Amino acid sequence: MDTYSSTMGRSDALAADIATDPGSHTVLTGERPTGSLHLGHLFGTIRERVRLQNLGVRTMVVLADYQVITDRDAIGHVRQHVYDAALDNLAAGIDPEKSVIFTHSSVPALNQLLLPFLSLVTEAELHRNPTVKAELAASGRALSGLLLTYPVHQAADILFCKATVVPVGKDQLPHIEMARVIARRFRDRYGAVFEKPQALLTSAPAVPGLDGRKMSKSFGNAISLSMTPDETVAVVRRTPTDSDRDISYDPAARPGVSALLTIAGLCTGREPGAIAADIGGGGAGSLKDCVAESVNSLLAEHRRRRADMAADPDYVRSVLRHGNERANEIAEQTLSEVRAAMGTAY
Ligand code: TRP
Repeated sequence: MDTYSSTMGRSDALAADIATDPGSHTVLTGERPTGSLHLGHLFGTIRERVRLQNLGVRTMVVLADYQVITDRDAIGHVRQHVYDAALDNLAAGIDPEKSVIFTHSSVPALNQLLLPFLSLVTEAELHRNPTVKAELAASGRALSGLLLTYPVHQAADILFCKATVVPVGKDQLPHIEMARVIARRFRDRYGAVFEKPQALLTSAPAVPGLDGRKMSKSFGNAISLSMTPDETVAVVRRTPTDSDRDISYDPAARPGVSALLTIAGLCTGREPGAIAADIGGGGAGSLKDCVAESVNSLLAEHRRRRADMAADPDYVRSVLRHGNERANEIAEQTLSEVRAAMGTAY
C-alpha cells in the first residue's frame, strides 16, 4: 500500500503534467446521488472538475446511483437526486458538449467489469478498507455484499474509461489504490488494457457544516446549493452558537461561531479571523446575517442558471441520455478489449 506522502508527491507531479498536457488525460469523478449537493461538494470537488474540463481534460462525471444502496436498504428518491446532482453540475459549469455525465445503472458494460475485477482481489483486502469500515460503522447495519465490494465497483467506474486522474479527498484514497492494484493485476494476468489511475488530491479545505462537523447531508448541517436565499437565511439562523457577543475565530472553543466564520471566509475569499474582527461585538445575529449574505451572493449565479435549466425538465433528461449513450460506447469498447485479453470473445 502506498503511503500518504508518496501519493501526495505523485499528486503534485500529476497536477504539473495536467497543466502542460491536459489533452493526454482523462478525469473520472462523481458522487453518490443521495440528496441535493451542498457547499462541501462545490468547494471540495465540483469547482476542481469544472477547472479540469475547462483546461481541456476529457472529463467523465458518474452519478453513482448503484452506490446509493451500499449502506442502506432502499434507493429512495434516487431519480430526483440524480436530476438534482446533474443540475448542480451543469449550473456549476459542467458542459455536456465537453464532458460526459452519466449514471451507473445505465451502463451495463461498466457493471460487467465487476466480475473479472472481483477475481483479482481477496476477501481480506476487501475487509481491510478503512473507508468501508467507517461507512459500515456509520450505517449501523450488517455488512452487505455490495458495501464490502463497492470499492471494486468504483474501480470499474474509474477503469472503464481509462481515467488517468481521479480528483478526490483523503477518504477516497483507499479506493484509488484498489483501482491501481486491479489495473496492475489485470495487466499481469491478461495483458495491458487499463491505465493506472492517479489520485489528484484536492487542496480545498474541508468545509465545515453549520455545527462544526464536516458538512454532510446526513448530519443535517449542510447548506444546499439549491436552497433559496430565504431558506439559506433560515438554516444559518438555526445554527447553535454561544452567548459571547464578541465574535472570534476559535474552532476548539467556539465550534458554531468558527464554522460560520469559515463558511463566510470560503465564500468571500477572506480570512475567518478578519471577518470576526469586522463583526467585533455585533453578536451572533450579525455574524449570521453576514454568513447568509456571503453564501447567497456566491450562489446567486449558480442558482439562477440552475432554475433556468430546471424549468425545462426535458433538458436534464436529454443531457443524461446523451451522457449515458457516450458512456455506453466507451464501456462497450473497453469490455471488448477485456474479452479479447481474457480469451472470452466468441
Ligand atoms: N464514492 C464517491 C463518493 O462517495 C463517489 C464515486 C463513485 C466516485 N464512483 C467514483 C468518486 C469514482 C471518484 C471516482 O463521493
